[in-house]
Amino acid sequence: MIKTAVFPVAGLGSRFLPATKAIPKEMLVVIDKPLIQYAVEEAKAAGIEKFIFITSQGKEAIEDHFDSHSALEAVLQARGKIDDLEKIRSIKIPEGQALFIRQHEPLGLGHVVWCARHYIQEEAFALLLADDLIQAKSPCLKQMVEAYHEDDGNMVAVVDVPKNEVNRYGVLDIARQFGAKVASKGVVEKPDPAKATSTTAIIGRYILRTSIFEPLGLKKQGSGGEIQLTDALQSSLSAGVSLTGFCFQGDRYDCGTKVGWLQANLALAASDPEIRPYLESVFAVIN
Ligand code: UTP
Repeated sequence: MIKTAVFPVAGLGSRFLPATKAIPKEMLVVIDKPLIQYAVEEAKAAGIEKFIFITSQGKEAIEDHFDSHSALEAVLQARGKIDDLEKIRSIKIPEGQALFIRQHEPLGLGHVVWCARHYIQEEAFALLLADDLIQAKSPCLKQMVEAYHEDDGNMVAVVDVPKNEVNRYGVLDIARQFGAKVASKGVVEKPDPAKATSTTAIIGRYILRTSIFEPLGLKKQGSGGEIQLTDALQSSLSAGVSLTGFCFQGDRYDCGTKVGWLQANLALAASDPEIRPYLESVFAVIN
């Protein structure tokens, strides 16, 4: 049973400057909700009950976003704006179920996950990167939790990417594919496209065994001088913990990049019957 999720939100968001100078990247809005809310809603839909956010200075807006706002709620109530009231109430994480921990320096994804090590009691936990927004009939993490078996070891959501883009991802060396799952015999962070063994790339949804904290605790620097989660996945694999890729049903947008964020906005706008007609008129003008 996967009941705990970790949300790393301590990064600098430098690819989105100047927007992210004073606003956390995870609070960037797609249509009408910040990225981190999409990730938390996905986790809730997958049955997550404990939400661990790894934050840093300047990320306080994230904590506020999932808290009560009594003054706002009172005004909406008094004005009879019941739909809006319900919208902001449903965002809250119930008291005692959210934990905010600080990462002092953005040393990498492996390091930020390691910061949660004392707060996870179960054998396995979920990890969600809010900048990957996934639109799916059944939420991506729910699909993973339903498919997950202990023998899968560490499970990572994967997508097929163009060969010239593999150097932006952790990439699996595939042993075999069975249904939606891919058994891996290796994983490399940001491989040279000429040397990559596949185009099966890890995106921001994981189910991790707590044994991952052992290699992460070694704090070895990897690609880009950062402590890489991918390297810890490789160490775990070498120590006998399986690494399973999961091909989920749905569309993923990399909202850590301007183009991915724009694509997410367009895709969600196109699937919203209220907004879609306006979108069509904008494209008629462009064409
Ligand atoms: P990214 O590498 O995409 O985020 O990490 P970033 O470093 O903030 O972005 P750029 O490259 O400077 O534009 C994915 C997620 O992991 C978090 C980020 O906040 C983001 O949500 N992260 C990353 C941390 O919390 N700590 C880290 O040391 C690294």
